[in-house]
Amino acid sequence: MPKVTFIDLDGVKTSIDTRSGISILEIAQLNGIDVEGACEGGMACSTCHLIVDPDWFDRLEAASEEEEDMLDLAFGLTRTSRLGCQITLTENLDGIIFSLPNETNNLIG
Ligand code: FES
Repeated sequence: MPKVTFIDLDGVKTSIDTRSGISILEIAQLNGIDVEGACEGGMACSTCHLIVDPDWFDRLEAASEEEEDMLDLAFGLTRTSRLGCQITLTENLDGIIFSLPNETNNLIG
């Protein structure tokens, strides 16, 4: 049973024992993590934007061009940003950590 950890904007960690084969967005939504996912995985929004822990980023399959294009529209984009709906949890990703993006970054910075 792989574990996924989400870190919210206050630095609070929530670790979830879940199952592989479903998307990170689904895991977040099923467990009350505040990730919107407005298009429900259709890659037509960027509201499922999550920041992957740098130690884990390279273990993910590379983002598609479509995903990169949507990410360009996301607030608080970082080098390790991904769309949560495009990452399917596998056993290899047991322990992966995501942070919720700071949506006001761009306004401050
Ligand atoms: S839920 Fe819309 S792009 Fe992921």
